Amino acid sequence: MAVSISQLALEHHRVAFGIAETQPRISWRFAGNAQNWEQSSYDIELLRSSESPHRDGTFSYSQASGDSRYVPWPGAPLKSAERARVRARAHGKRGQPSTPWSDWVAVETGLLTAEDWDGAAPIAADRETEVGGPKRPLYFRKDFLAGKDVESARLYITALGLYEAEINGHRVGDAVLAPGWQSFNFRHVYDTYDVTGLVKAGGNAIGVVVGEGWFAGRLAFSDSRNFWGDTLGVQSLLTVTYKNGTTRKIATDESWRANTGPVTSSEIYDGETYDSRLEAGIEGWSSDAFDDTDWLAVKTLSPLKGKLVPADGPPVRRLEERKPERIFKSASGKTLIDFGQNMVGWLRLNKVKGPSGTNITLHHAEVLDNGELALRPLRSAKAADTLILHGNGSQTWEPHFTFHGFRFAQMDGWPEDTPLTSDSVTGIVVHSDLEQTGWFECSHALLNQFHSNVRWSMKGNFLSISTDCPQRDERLGWTGDAHAFGPTANFLYDTAGFWRGWHRDMYSEMQRNGSMRVPFFVPTVPPDSNDSPAAVWGDVSVGGPWDLFRAYGDVGMLKEQYPQSRGWIDKGVPRQAEGGLWDRSGPQFGDWLDPKAPPEDAGAATTAKYLVADAYLVRMTEVLADMARAVGDPAGADKYAAQHDDLRAKFQGAWMTGNDGQMANRTQTAYALALAFGLYTNATQRTAAAATLRDIVAGNDYLVGTGFAGTPALGPALRDAANATDDFYRMLLQTRVPSWLYQVVQNGTTTWERWDSLLPDGHVNPGSMTSFNHYAFGAVADWVHATVGGLAPAEPGWKVVAVEPVPGGGITSADTRFVSGYGEVRVKWNENVVDGSGGGRRQRFDLQVWVPPNTRARVRLPRSGKVREVGSGFYEFHEEGAS
Ligand SMILES: *[C@@H]1O[C@H](CO)[C@@H](O)[C@H](O)[C@H]1NC(C)=O
Ligand SMILES: *[C@@H]1O[C@H](CO)[C@@H](O)[C@H](O)[C@H]1NC(C)=O
Ligand SMILES: *[C@@H]1O[C@H](CO)[C@@H](O)[C@H](O)[C@H]1NC(C)=O
Ligand SMILES: *[C@@H]1O[C@H](CO)[C@@H](O)[C@H](O)[C@H]1NC(C)=O
Ligand SMILES: *[C@@H]1O[C@H](CO)[C@@H](O)[C@H](O)[C@H]1NC(C)=O
Ligand SMILES: *[C@@H]1O[C@H](CO)[C@@H](O)[C@H](O)[C@H]1NC(C)=O
Ligand SMILES: *[C@@H]1O[C@H](CO)[C@@H](O)[C@H](O)[C@H]1NC(C)=O
Ligand SMILES: *[C@@H]1O[C@H](CO)[C@@H](O)[C@H](O)[C@H]1NC(C)=O
Repeated sequence: MAVSISQLALEHHRVAFGIAETQPRISWRFAGNAQNWEQSSYDIELLRSSESPHRDGTFSYSQASGDSRYVPWPGAPLKSAERARVRARAHGKRGQPSTPWSDWVAVETGLLTAEDWDGAAPIAADRETEVGGPKRPLYFRKDFLAGKDVESARLYITALGLYEAEINGHRVGDAVLAPGWQSFNFRHVYDTYDVTGLVKAGGNAIGVVVGEGWFAGRLAFSDSRNFWGDTLGVQSLLTVTYKNGTTRKIATDESWRANTGPVTSSEIYDGETYDSRLEAGIEGWSSDAFDDTDWLAVKTLSPLKGKLVPADGPPVRRLEERKPERIFKSASGKTLIDFGQNMVGWLRLNKVKGPSGTNITLHHAEVLDNGELALRPLRSAKAADTLILHGNGSQTWEPHFTFHGFRFAQMDGWPEDTPLTSDSVTGIVVHSDLEQTGWFECSHALLNQFHSNVRWSMKGNFLSISTDCPQRDERLGWTGDAHAFGPTANFLYDTAGFWRGWHRDMYSEMQRNGSMRVPFFVPTVPPDSNDSPAAVWGDVSVGGPWDLFRAYGDVGMLKEQYPQSRGWIDKGVPRQAEGGLWDRSGPQFGDWLDPKAPPEDAGAATTAKYLVADAYLVRMTEVLADMARAVGDPAGADKYAAQHDDLRAKFQGAWMTGNDGQMANRTQTAYALALAFGLYTNATQRTAAAATLRDIVAGNDYLVGTGFAGTPALGPALRDAANATDDFYRMLLQTRVPSWLYQVVQNGTTTWERWDSLLPDGHVNPGSMTSFNHYAFGAVADWVHATVGGLAPAEPGWKVVAVEPVPGGGITSADTRFVSGYGEVRVKWNENVVDGSGGGRRQRFDLQVWVPPNTRARVRLPRSGKVREVGSGFYEFHEEGAS
């Protein structure tokens, strides 16, 4: 009977380094198989220099509490750039063991106030900026002396653009595309690095390369750029602390120098050009021996508009490498490379050697059409990287301030002196470095591949913010996609910090002019645009926080987000009349990408747009009432519950025709939303509607008939309201178009924007909006985890787990794991044919369940429907007979 603490975390940081919270809440996860183990109290020890009541420097604190998540920081607030260490142990109920002390976990704050930046100003090169075109990346540098006995050194840094920093010729940290993308007029992320090992006694130098990035680059559909600024710059503070307690600070100021260098252009959509012949001129530029007398002076800029804050989520990193699966010649003689996986990142060229001036250009594409790269879906994005060789021996190179969504690449200009082999090019996979928390596998190979595609689309589109797509001239933080996919995302990876920052930006955008309207994408571009509000999309301001609460159980974060949810429902949604349904005048996306919508009119759905909008409004108002209850606002709970009842009656009046519960549109989406969102109050009508939905689905040969709005509701409606889980299994495992597995049998390795992004004849859909890497339709994975896998939260934060597998579709086994805030929970089941006692063959259902300490599970057995409540530990269940 073992129990221990496997991880201790602060707030929602993966690594609590350079954080903004001065009293970060503390959470721990458990490991071990202890049965029915429940925490009764905990001890926390803090080790900090500024506060140490004990001789050994520790501060200890004990609390009788079952809480193991988000417990209050027990000491005085941390000061700016203060470091402390924390550990915890937990005690069980009477007769149950205690955990050993957890490992010590370090926490360190960043720079908490503007004064802490010690005069560091944003600086730019003293030169004309390329306002109307791509900006040439700039190299900034500064020499400095350091004394002996360095105790620690920290670099605090951000850019007006994207940066990569070096100290004494060594790259600082391993983040890429930093500081990521925020609503820069409100929030500008800076990063903190431990550079103790890079600073040496004597002469030193710091160098920073800055590219235009999202801040100053070309962005969104037209040829527009400079949304937050037209000048590249950097702001940083290097703090060196000596063993004798004194510090030396090197801040960006007018003593720095700047220059251009071998990165001659680098743009998010269009790619990078790197001229290695220019390396000679800057060799050693980030080391102290370098002579920068012919470099440009720099000038200081006015302070950044957005508040300088640390990131809430993890940085973007290079996380995987992939070798080419095939290098071949296309019909037209081009050299093509297939990486076997649609991915996001870039290519590294390894040890290439050729004459000086050799131009190697890589074009990237997700699919081939007629055997050549399909570049049309990229629209105006060039997605091309160029390396010009210096001719001085072999070189290895990868781009810096761009990324591409691709499975295939075309290689032009590879030099003849170097054989092109599968070792010559490496695919670098790049995304936000989220902790993976969810796994799913079952006996159905195509469904497993689909699940892998869902994960790859999440990886590819969770790059600093969640984007609709990663490849064309768009890549925006579309709110509707995020709303549909939230629950799936929160299962596959720990997204709490990632979304927290995004919701902060959303709330800032909503308050821009007091309208409380949620923009179509966050960050909104142009930053001063006045989007008109749209249902489903804007509803992420309610659905997003609620999905986070279900996944992570953090009431504190919910309280932080509750005002944005209220703002949207109280004010942002334009109504027909006060407290009424959606105003009918503005545009709506509705059931976007309904499979029957024509290629050029994705919003032309079979379900009325305002039916969809109103259904979501009713549901979001109900969610808001639940949220009010959870954050301890009973008056709000009563208010929104009453509004919900009223709106539901209005919905029935507007969209249910006659008194038999028929919906205005006889579509999968109309019925799925009405059933999944609890819009029926008459049981007879509800039963009739469930039968109608089943008829519609059967009449459509079990093919998908839903778009963005209806897709996440369809599975739950068939399972919970219609008692027709088998019908949904038939849809889920369908391989004809439109269906989820159609994409898999068409060799898709990510989920697509359109049900038929690749047509059955193997050609690319003619629509101008055709991505092969859109995560929204992957939202069905949430149903797969809960229904095939049998794993879902029964109470917010997985404090109680619902284990309710509903086998079907001929699937004979599944193994589903989730690392919750309490520890790993796992459900594994098998259907076996065994010898019965009378000599006959019988079917047997075997279920294994692992429940982490300090939680409980409600297990529902699929055949008998029997429900068992269990505490932590490992359990096995068996049932005989057909399901
Ligand atoms: C502390 O150490 C630094 C670096 O060795 C040195 O430059 C400085 O003079 C020292 N200060 C004191 C007060 O000893
Ligand atoms: C190539 O090497 C030569 C000799 O070492 C050197 O003079 C020249 O600057 C180098 N050129 C580049 C582009 O590195
Ligand atoms: C390299 O070649 C590509 C075509 O393959 C061309 O578009 C580009 O302008 C060239 N770049 C340079 C710097 O010569
Ligand atoms: C505020 O934003 C809304 C919607 O974006 C817009 O219609 C309205 O004109 C704006 N009001 C002001 C005062 O800017
Ligand atoms: C859906 O129902 C609305 C309201 O009755 C109707 O106006 C609309 O034409 C219907 N849509 C379709 C595609 O039939
Ligand atoms: C429920 O709907 C049925 C069928 O339309 C109707 O006959 C019945 O009167 C309704 N019940 C209530 C309580 O309204
Ligand atoms: C659900 O359907 C199954 C058969 O598919 C049936 O045995 C069961 O009674 C139904 N449950 C309810 C609540 O209608
Ligand atoms: C899928 O891959 C198989 C095996 O490589 C190939 O035969 C088939 O043509 C591909 N289908 C499409 C639509 O590309």
